[in-house]
Amino acid sequence: MSVKHFLTLLDFPPSDVLAVVDRASALKKNPGDTNSQARKTLGLIFEKASTRTRVAFEVAITQMGGSSLFLTTDDSQIGRGEPIADTARVLSRLVDCLAIRTFSHSTLEQFAEYSQVPVINALSDDFHPCQLLADMQTFIEHRGSIVGKRVAWVGDGNNMCQSYINAAKVFDFELHIATPTGFEPKTDLVAANSDRVTLTKDPKEAVANVDLVVTDVWTSMGQEGAQAERVKAFADFEVTKELMAIANSDALFMHCLPAHRGEEVSTAVLDAPDSIVWEEAENRLHTQKALLEYLLN
Ligand code: CP
Ligand code: NVA
Repeated sequence: MSVKHFLTLLDFPPSDVLAVVDRASALKKNPGDTNSQARKTLGLIFEKASTRTRVAFEVAITQMGGSSLFLTTDDSQIGRGEPIADTARVLSRLVDCLAIRTFSHSTLEQFAEYSQVPVINALSDDFHPCQLLADMQTFIEHRGSIVGKRVAWVGDGNNMCQSYINAAKVFDFELHIATPTGFEPKTDLVAANSDRVTLTKDPKEAVANVDLVVTDVWTSMGQEGAQAERVKAFADFEVTKELMAIANSDALFMHCLPAHRGEEVSTAVLDAPDSIVWEEAENRLHTQKALLEYLLN
């Protein structure tokens, strides 16, 4: 049987992605109900920093009766040039699942190609599908089905924005993206989803009549050298109370975190009652448990 990997939201049939999100909500209500993963080991290979993703995976596998081990580039042979294919062949004989946070998405694809066990994308420069499982769970818990709803993405056309494009397809919602010129998501991805995704340079246009407003940092991990230029380019893209007022009156706000208050989002928006970012962060645990169940059983 071929091994299932989770590199983007498109890797599973849409009904299975929805089932993982439903299962996450069930596990949240009844954490003890989880399938046992006793004696299973989850390997975490992180080439970038993480708080939520790492902790949620480690707690998830621990609560399921398994264990995890955490490797960075510097404390493994990857940092000294051992090829990805060889690392994948070896590690996948030692652990039951690998969650990898890296730069180039092709590194993950290579890992998956040579791995005998499931590989999970714990964030790449292009996609962050684990975060979208939690985002979808959080919206659905507050507002019911997201089918046919309108969502605004304001800011960088980055890994999170591109994951929202995939989510729009899988979960069947409209996505209105506002980015500055030169910071749009990949053209082919937008084109493939032109029936539900629109692009604009105007955040006000994007948020008009939407049910959910989402943003993310202006400078993602690995782009720190361009921070000054980015702060300038994104100056008109802060999600403020004034911008939220253009959205539907019951619109929710989400952010994958970490947030930079006063840059991509104002403190007033982040701390407002319609901001559901803390639950969104908690739901990383429940969705990652449901994902591990799906991949390991
Ligand atoms: N949202 C998210 O992935 O957070 P971390 O970088 O802390 O894992
Ligand atoms: N776009 C951000 C997300 C962090 C969770 C980054 O890649 O740094």
